Amino acid sequence: MRPRIRLGAEKLVELYRRLRPFLFCLDPETAHDWSIRALGLKNALSPARTCPSPAHLRQRLFGLDFPNPVGLAAGYDKHAQVVDAALGLGFGFVEVGTVTPAPQEGNPRPRVFRLTEDEAIINRYGFNSVGHATAIDNLGRRKVSRGILGINIGANKQSRDRIGDYVSSYECFAPFADYITVNISSPNTPDLRNLQSQMELRPLLSALAQARAGIASQGKAAPPLLLKIAPDLSQPDLEALVEVSVEKDVDGLIISNTTISRPALKSSHSDQTGGLSGRPLRSLSTTVLASAYRLSAGRLPLIGVGGISSGQEAYDKITAGASLVQLYTALIFHGPGLVRRLADELAAIIKAEGFANISEAVGTGAERY
Ligand SMILES: Cc1cc2nc3c(=O)[nH]c(=O)nc-3n(C[C@H](O)[C@H](O)[C@H](O)COP(=O)(O)O)c2cc1C
Repeated sequence: MRPRIRLGAEKLVELYRRLRPFLFCLDPETAHDWSIRALGLKNALSPARTCPSPAHLRQRLFGLDFPNPVGLAAGYDKHAQVVDAALGLGFGFVEVGTVTPAPQEGNPRPRVFRLTEDEAIINRYGFNSVGHATAIDNLGRRKVSRGILGINIGANKQSRDRIGDYVSSYECFAPFADYITVNISSPNTPDLRNLQSQMELRPLLSALAQARAGIASQGKAAPPLLLKIAPDLSQPDLEALVEVSVEKDVDGLIISNTTISRPALKSSHSDQTGGLSGRPLRSLSTTVLASAYRLSAGRLPLIGVGGISSGQEAYDKITAGASLVQLYTALIFHGPGLVRRLADELAAIIKAEGFANISEAVGTGAERY
């Protein structure tokens, strides 16, 4: 057996820091495509191994055993090409997508912008997707399935039946997914976010509940259903959304997607149209998360996303009400070593705060927001 060289998290972060100026000479979408190729190669050459996480980071939520609470957010592996290599970086779970039923190009390039001084990204991809068939081919090529896989689903831009798109997506990915995320919060598909309103959400969730019941009645696995929401909802809309989600047996909420708001930004690309992610999104998404935690009063597990780049920031999401967290933008600025470093930092904080398990910390600070 060939000996494996494994760099420590700190070394990998430092290496990436040196490499970053060269990577950042490339346009962001090209750099992303290269990183997918590199991870694909890593997977092919040495099948990724998941590292054991400390017991106090493990949790069981919606019937799944999460080895640690740090997940890869949707949008990095849109076409489900590198699931196991991403798990091998140390993520406790990986969410692929958004996948739409039919293939579609998305918006014209350039459609991703680095706001380096702000540690932020603006994207207006507009659901560029290979579609169901190719995503399923990619999932079928997995040699090993060694971690929790979420599949994030969306509707085609030109669809005349958006609810039908979500139902067919749920049915088609149910055999492959440990959970399925209904993305109704992308700002880059016209009118998609209207599905978050009570009037449109109720029929959508009713149709999905029926699809789940149909699959379960055939004795097949009907994966848990999560809803991913925007950080730009008004308080009354958030209240209604939480109530409808509880009523329709949604298993959890992912808070949040990118924002269309523009907090004070230093970078020159700040006026680009699209969704803003990264550091400037952090406090807005955490405030909405804490609000949803108070409104749901323990009835819905929450996944906190938005601007996380350290163990402390992940811990802040957890005390605001998140049972799990996800990240994407910080990977662009800090590289793949960040994942293990962040999980290690989080494990140390949970221990230092005297919690026997991470679940004890969830929501302990929600009143502060
Ligand atoms: C380039 C890019 C593409 C994204 N694409 C998707 C997507 O296809 N579906 C989705 O639900 N979220 C998508 N997101 C949003 C992220 O999943 C996440 O909710 C958001 O970026 C906030 O987390 P972060 O600050 O850690 O990046 C995308 C984000 C970025 C930066």
